[in-house]
Amino acid sequence: MNKEELKKQVGYKAAEFVQNNTIVGLGTGSTAKYLVEALGKRTKEENLNIVGVATSKRTEEQARSLGITIKNIDEVDHIDLTIDGADEISSDFQGIKGGGAAHFREKTVAINSKQNIWIVDNSKLSNNLGSFPLPLEVIPFGSSHVFNKLKLKNYNPKFRENNNKRVITDQGNYVIDLYLHDIKDPTKLAKELDSITGILEHGLFLNIVNKVIVGYPNGPKIINVR
Ligand code: A5P
Repeated sequence: MNKEELKKQVGYKAAEFVQNNTIVGLGTGSTAKYLVEALGKRTKEENLNIVGVATSKRTEEQARSLGITIKNIDEVDHIDLTIDGADEISSDFQGIKGGGAAHFREKTVAINSKQNIWIVDNSKLSNNLGSFPLPLEVIPFGSSHVFNKLKLKNYNPKFRENNNKRVITDQGNYVIDLYLHDIKDPTKLAKELDSITGILEHGLFLNIVNKVIVGYPNGPKIINVR
């Protein structure tokens, strides 16, 4: 089974956890797209009635095109379950997200959800976080100063670019990735990044996930975390 098949496997597995008449947070990325595809199928074939809260414009477009009702996060009073991908998950189930520059909306939706499920192929598991660069969404005004501060701290910052142009998020901001390689104390780092003016949100998702579904060639493994 290649990586794409593993992503599909966990996306479809996670869709089975979605119940009728619920409000569902829909993640972003190449794994979450299979979840949305599976929910689109269930909507058509089983008449599944859900309201989706999308974590990006991309996901919103895909979900609408498949007939899933979408509401803005501020139009709902709660979210029952959010299902999303992740870039790296440590052995104590902390995560890095934002490889697709959507972590601000993803975190906002996640922390306002009763339950969170992450879906990943087995390559995303590691002992300590940090092998995946840590994404920061940064407000453009003053961003060069934020960058310099991060550099002075030896956090190895790089503005994220695509075809030599800075990546712009759904909020109109920049992304700076920190190439840290090993994050010894994610809680301490999260607090520090939270305190820097100009960083809208970082990609450390701590103490958030309830269930992780990991794709393996012999079938998905479901881990109940909390
Ligand atoms: C989007 O910004 C991310 O947080 C994604 O959820 C994460 O990068 C996982 O994406 P893939 O499923 O494409 O690896």
